Amino acid sequence: MSLEDKLKKLKEMKEQALLGGGQDRIDIQHGKGKLTARERIALLVDEDSFEEFDMFVEHRSSDFGLDKIKILGDGVITGCGKINGRQMFIFSQDFTVFGGSLSEAHAEKICKIMDLAMKVGAPVIGLNDSGGARIQEGVVSLGGYADIFLRNTLASGVIPQLSLILGPCAGGAVYSPAITDFVFMSKGTSYMFVTGPNVVKTVTHEEVTSDELGGAAVHAEKSGVCHFACENEADTIKKLKELIKYIPQNNMEDPPYFENSDSVNRQDEDLNAIIPENPNVPYDIRDVINKIIDTDSFLEVHADYAQNIVVGFAHLAGRSIGIVANQPAVMAGVLDINSSVKGARFIRFCDAFNIPLLTYEEVPGFLPGTEQEHGGIIRQGAKLLFAYCEATVPKVTVITRKAYGGAYDVMSSKHVRGDINYAWPTAEIAVMGPKGAVEIIFKKDIANSSDPEKETAAKTEEYRQKFANPFIAAARGYVDDIIEPKTTRPRLIRAFEMLETKQDSNPPKKHGNIPL
Ligand code: HXC
Repeated sequence: MSLEDKLKKLKEMKEQALLGGGQDRIDIQHGKGKLTARERIALLVDEDSFEEFDMFVEHRSSDFGLDKIKILGDGVITGCGKINGRQMFIFSQDFTVFGGSLSEAHAEKICKIMDLAMKVGAPVIGLNDSGGARIQEGVVSLGGYADIFLRNTLASGVIPQLSLILGPCAGGAVYSPAITDFVFMSKGTSYMFVTGPNVVKTVTHEEVTSDELGGAAVHAEKSGVCHFACENEADTIKKLKELIKYIPQNNMEDPPYFENSDSVNRQDEDLNAIIPENPNVPYDIRDVINKIIDTDSFLEVHADYAQNIVVGFAHLAGRSIGIVANQPAVMAGVLDINSSVKGARFIRFCDAFNIPLLTYEEVPGFLPGTEQEHGGIIRQGAKLLFAYCEATVPKVTVITRKAYGGAYDVMSSKHVRGDINYAWPTAEIAVMGPKGAVEIIFKKDIANSSDPEKETAAKTEEYRQKFANPFIAAARGYVDDIIEPKTTRPRLIRAFEMLETKQDSNPPKKHGNIPL
């Protein structure tokens, strides 16, 4: 065979591989409003940057007549490509080939790029669209999943791992995305569950659709499994590219710098008026965030979940920061189980990947009640505390208003290695809110008073005057300065600039024992 013939054969085989499960199945895929695995990669990476590996891999199974159906690539496209010039490793499951199900060979292809990503120090992006374990392969397929889970775990905190769910993701298959750092889901066409609607019906007699059980909205709002619920596939890919801007290639590098025109000295007069006079009146902490960071640079994470805390990435003077902020507009910004876990997970990502943390504190305390106590607020709240304590990245805190009780300690206080802690003059830093405190410490006086209501009001005012301010904390050095709100942007920029060379570490250990 001449080279010309060999090249012809190669071309034919590549063309065959490019067709995946064939035009009919591609049409079905499009009919469901979904893109093919290759179309997704084309949207994701810079033009002509994708290098594909293992295009000729086939499955090795002969059971159930599989030896007669072999499709080049075996249901997953793997390789590396660039996003805005940065190297990424990518796998994209091809639903047109055995429903994107995972065979031994399919798993090996994914493991190969994960191993390379670890050696190179570059993120792994998984585009998931799969019927799960290749049923005909049995335990071999389960072994393949476990090989991936192990790699997900070992890569955690070393390289960013990002999962896009663009179709089914069911059974044990959900655990690979679950271990990764961020999960993006496409509304209407993707779902994740450990057991599907049919099993649910048999076991619990509940009637539920796939979307109700594990669609994007459910996981974004209720379970917290999904960090970004996106409108469609193109939007999902766009969101992922936005996220990439804020994160580094690996745990040894810093996130990229983004030049911008927002002045480092910009002061915003609106900030001086943003805190309502009445401490019980809410405001939206996002307004504070947006007035201080570089214009339009906030990327909120987990926006629909536990909205009493806001977390997300932003740029400040062109540098990436992670923001954790109590949200007074939702449940007065109280900390509960879900917000604690949400905050803790975000902090740990930022700490693992050298992203400095900015905390806005506006918290009346932890949420009381049997539901919270029985749900484990002690253990769950401890996760947030643990995450802040162990984080060694630069940590800057701004107390905008309430900083009460244990929540004061938790929210990146000086005592848990907050590097620079500022308070606005509107800050109230104390063991508890004035009314609650007075009802405890002046219980007898109030009971013996001829006018208990008047007595409570007078004592409350006395307590407020004494404690509902930042000066006592400042006198102890628990806050480094009390700053005028409008100056917050320049002050934060200077603080983070000063902290750029910060060195801190934790004692040597195998790993900590975060209260899971
Ligand atoms: C082999 C599979 C498959 C699978 C789908 N296909 N899932 N082949 N193994 N797991 C094939 C179908 O036979 C079909 O082939 C093609 O993919 C498309 O599937 P359809 O059923 O026609 O598509 P659709 O109607 O869209 O339904 C998609 C689906 C359904 C909901 C994913 O296929 C399904 O329920 N599949 C089984 C899901 C499942 O139970 N998987 C095992 C989960 S347990 P043809 O040739 O007709 O096109 C698991 C354990 C992992 O994954 C554990 C890890 C620890």
